[in-house]
Amino acid sequence: MQALLDTLKPGEPDWELATALDPSRIPVHLAIIMDGNGRWANRRSLPRIAGHKAGVGPVRTTVETCARLGVRVLTLYAFSMENWKRPRAEVEALWRLLRFYLRRELPELQRHDIRLVALGRLDMLPPAVRAELEAAIDVTRLNRGLQVNLAINYGGRTEIVDAVNAMIEESAAKGTLSTLRIDETSLAERLYTRGLPDPDLLIRTSGEMRISNFLLWQIAYAELYVTETLWPDFSRTDLLRAILDYQKRERRYGGLTALPDVALAPDEPLAEEIGVSSR
Ligand code: FPP
Repeated sequence: MQALLDTLKPGEPDWELATALDPSRIPVHLAIIMDGNGRWANRRSLPRIAGHKAGVGPVRTTVETCARLGVRVLTLYAFSMENWKRPRAEVEALWRLLRFYLRRELPELQRHDIRLVALGRLDMLPPAVRAELEAAIDVTRLNRGLQVNLAINYGGRTEIVDAVNAMIEESAAKGTLSTLRIDETSLAERLYTRGLPDPDLLIRTSGEMRISNFLLWQIAYAELYVTETLWPDFSRTDLLRAILDYQKRERRYGGLTALPDVALAPDEPLAEEIGVSSR
């Protein structure tokens, strides 16, 4: 948090936003659906690929700002399993951009102690892209600052199905299949995000009110923030605004409230009796 303030000058707009933030309530895990690259390009009569290219800058700004704010995990939706349906030239351009990003940013990631991780079925990636991605993951694996998860060839349903199948296979190998029981903890331990806290805040750019098969299991209690800003225009200001908005939310996790001063007094009717929904 202080690291961000150190880069800002008093009086500039982001300074106001950054000083308004509560340092004790920075999201631990922030997830982002980066959407709107195509529309950004269309509005400028440019090919869609130009929109993706313009989307690299905000990735850099977001990673840098999250590291300075003290966010622990940032998960970016870079390529969904459904994105293979796009024209081949667009898919190939996305792989080129990913390689460009990795080459250009690796020294910066190292300098800021940032660890890179990929979430998704990497076996379907073009071999050269996969090799470069795995090399970057390997080089940064001991870094202890921000963890950046790139969701690549990622699908939320597939992730859950894979986790269940992994449990079935493990159990069959041990000869315990007939007594296998799956619970939330054992399933979560087999997701790509095993060991990580669930996202506190999910941001989606470009105004679409959809989850698009992203982190279906993990976002059960995430706060959602949708902005009309298209991804290539997503700035540090937009990110700080989203986090400020998140800090105004009261997170109840299905309960009524965490605050003792508004808890039900013993003589008040039960919440169910007065029709208060717990969701
Ligand atoms: C969604 O916009 C964006 C993507 C499918 C790709 C995201 C890729 C980047 C931001 C480029 C760089 C990323 C990395 C990690 C180097 P869209 O094409 O669906 O936009 P539209 O909904 O307006 O058509």
